[in-house]
Amino acid sequence: MKAIEIRNKYLNYFKSKGHVVIPSAPLIPENDASVLFTTAGMQPLVPYLLGQKHPNGTRLTDYQKCLRTVDIDEVGDNRHLTYFEMLGNWSLGDYFKEESISMSYEFLTKELGIPVEKLSVTCFAGDSDCARDEESAKVWKKVGVPEEKIYFFGKDDNWWIAGENGPCGPDTEMFYDTGKPKCSSECNPSCGCGKYVEIWNNVFMEFYKNEDGTYKKLSQKNVDTGLGLERINMLLQGKETPYDTELFVPVMDKLLELTPYKENIQSRRIVAEHLRASMMIISDGGRPSNIDRGYILRRLIRRMIRHLNKLEINLNEISTLVDVYKDTLGEMYPDLVLKNKEIKQVIIDEKDKFVKTLEHGQRELEKVLNRAKQENKTILETSTVFNLYETYGFPPEVTKEIAEEQGYSVDLKEIDKLFKEHQEKSKTGSDKKFKGGLSGSGEMETKYHTATHLLNAALKVILGPETHQAGSNITPERMRFDFPCDHKLTDDEKKKIEDLINEWIEEGLNVTNTEMKKEDAVATGAEAMFIERYPDIVTVYTIGDVSKEICMGPHVENTKVLGHFKIQKEEASSAGVRRIKAVLIN
Ligand code: ALA
Repeated sequence: MKAIEIRNKYLNYFKSKGHVVIPSAPLIPENDASVLFTTAGMQPLVPYLLGQKHPNGTRLTDYQKCLRTVDIDEVGDNRHLTYFEMLGNWSLGDYFKEESISMSYEFLTKELGIPVEKLSVTCFAGDSDCARDEESAKVWKKVGVPEEKIYFFGKDDNWWIAGENGPCGPDTEMFYDTGKPKCSSECNPSCGCGKYVEIWNNVFMEFYKNEDGTYKKLSQKNVDTGLGLERINMLLQGKETPYDTELFVPVMDKLLELTPYKENIQSRRIVAEHLRASMMIISDGGRPSNIDRGYILRRLIRRMIRHLNKLEINLNEISTLVDVYKDTLGEMYPDLVLKNKEIKQVIIDEKDKFVKTLEHGQRELEKVLNRAKQENKTILETSTVFNLYETYGFPPEVTKEIAEEQGYSVDLKEIDKLFKEHQEKSKTGSDKKFKGGLSGSGEMETKYHTATHLLNAALKVILGPETHQAGSNITPERMRFDFPCDHKLTDDEKKKIEDLINEWIEEGLNVTNTEMKKEDAVATGAEAMFIERYPDIVTVYTIGDVSKEICMGPHVENTKVLGHFKIQKEEASSAGVRRIKAVLIN
């Protein structure tokens, strides 16, 4: 079986169990500053886990493009990946433990054909926040997992939350036994020796973790599951690493053909992994820069280039490698085909910049290392490493790699601290810019805020109730609005949207606001983009009977002051997301 077949089997199986297949959200959550990238399938669904009604109902399934950067420096070993695909199914206050576990078991054993002997499962052992999960264990036994293969662990292993606060709960995890010998008599699924590999996690999300560390019950009991595609694919094919599967083999082979250093598998893996991740980020609209998401992308591309250099592969071959991935992954991710030229250009531009940076920085680093040698030092000082970054743009991790190759140690913890301060500084700058759009309260910005709500409402009328705001930005000159949509708007659609908004403006609708508890606001059907990030008491703005949204304002008092609404441009923002730029003319 290939990865794409596993994906299709998964979606079809859950479809047959009454789930609606929803599209993968972009890897880059627009205007959500709380996370850099989508790291789990549940992330785009947070408002619905908290109680907002999902337009597709209470049973959903999808494949979600994910990127996790915590392990970026581990990439190159046999298991860590930054980009991966997560297959998931959700119950939004619908089924709970019994049905969720039964379906997972059936999918693994019947659809994927995994013998039950290969499976072990873990459940939550219980503590003062939440009782021991006997119910899950009972269901596992009932479906056919022998008692000795059911383990109980505490919060460290069997509790799942994205980040610090938010929806969470005990989970039950499924492990695949690779057949390797036990590492000790205590060897069990929680030990990292490699005998047991986690394949699927079913989270029973019925709690919310507050900022103060306490838990409260959510208004509904949800199920959130995640099955890592690369990993299950590797196991089903009996391979040792994801790089030995069809997803990576063509690129790995190409790299092998191009390099004289045949034994350096680690660098080949780093190039293969980082190139794939970079292509996925770029295809979802990411661009290299010095902060946040852009910096992660920059780091991925630059680390890849450094390893291409190590492999002595001509950097012009990047184009060839991008094409190999286009052919390998194009069916799974059509954007890699559609945006092939754009992807190449972004990577090549970044390569050109980095080559210049490397030339400068490398000369400086050599000087620094020579000095260190003369002074008989074994440690490269934090300030020196950071200085190379600030002055020459020479990335600390590259300095570290080169310095370590020459026998110096580098304390990245300290560097990270300086680096964070530096990022904070740049971030404050960009936050200010961002705020200029979001909470600027000049006369025009205020008008555009209200027009944004009208546009959000009009899109629902013209395109369908499932569309919603995925991002927005306001300046005194214009408004910008992103929304999920699978097609370029036709002239007719654009005209209808403009006409409807102008009708509402001319009607002179009153804009009123009330403060209420967040839960109550959601219950009245008020829309919110990032519900989890609002305070407990929120302001709900209502415009006539056309719009109701949680928002911090500011807004005009009546729509008639808005003038005339005109769409200036409609374009793609990222995969499956369209962007409208519009103005108000007096
Ligand atoms: N959200 C859960 C995870 O990422 C399923 O493991």
